[in-house]
Amino acid sequence: MSIRKPPLPRLLLKNVSCMRNAQQILRHVNVTLHDGGSLVLTGTNGSGKTTFLRMLAGFNRPSAGEILWNGHDITKSGIFHQYKLQLNWLSFKEAIKNNMSVLDNVQWFEVLEGKQGKSMPALELMGLGKLAKEKAKMLSMGQRKRLQLARLLAIDRPIWLLDEPSVALDDDGVKLLEYIIAEHRKKGGIVIVATHLPIEIEDAAYMRLPPRFPRRMTLVDMLDRRDF
Ligand SMILES: Nc1ncnc2c1ncn2[C@@H]1O[C@H](COP(=O)(O)OP(=O)(O)OP(=O)(O)O)[C@@H](O)[C@H]1O
Ligand SMILES: [Mg+2]
Repeated sequence: MSIRKPPLPRLLLKNVSCMRNAQQILRHVNVTLHDGGSLVLTGTNGSGKTTFLRMLAGFNRPSAGEILWNGHDITKSGIFHQYKLQLNWLSFKEAIKNNMSVLDNVQWFEVLEGKQGKSMPALELMGLGKLAKEKAKMLSMGQRKRLQLARLLAIDRPIWLLDEPSVALDDDGVKLLEYIIAEHRKKGGIVIVATHLPIEIEDAAYMRLPPRFPRRMTLVDMLDRRDF
């Protein structure tokens, strides 16, 4: 009888902490993600959601603990070179060139990735097909976010790190976002989302980061404290 080992998680955070500016932002975080998995990060402003994503993207190093991809520490340079090619990052930094066409803004990234043929269908899916030839400066805020989402689809990497992906999207845009996340996961992709807005992601794990700063003391709190 053969005993099968359970598969290694694709991503494993083991007791991870992270400092920023000499302050501890994340403390003893443990997360396991297999192919098709999803994690939604919530928490107050400044609680560390973006820091969490930046750490997974390799911009901030953990101050303690390990981030393992396929069982290997991502901070080892040989591993990091392979790991970073798995990542697709969406944040407030749009990296949109206003004087380039909407299509070129997506295709440029697709070509850099050595891929072709996905940009136009991705723009069409995101409702920007008719604007493909327009300059990107013509786009509204929500349309710019849709362009970024089209880029995710065109680049087509397995691990999506999405920082507030639904900000500026209308109801239809949010549904499209939920749809492309679900489809990506069906193919085995992993999606990690930091958000303040509600988002429907089936069977996602949720992690609410604790506030960084305690609530200010009120007069009642002060009167309650004997040592005050
Ligand atoms: N560039 C930076 N340099 C140093 N410290 C920073 C920097 N950006 C943020 N921080 C610190 O890291 C903490 C966590 O910030 P982070 O951006 O991760 O929070 P967040 O949960 O994403 O907040 P928000 O909901 O506002 O997006 C903040 O309280 C801040 O003190
Ligand atoms: Mg943030």
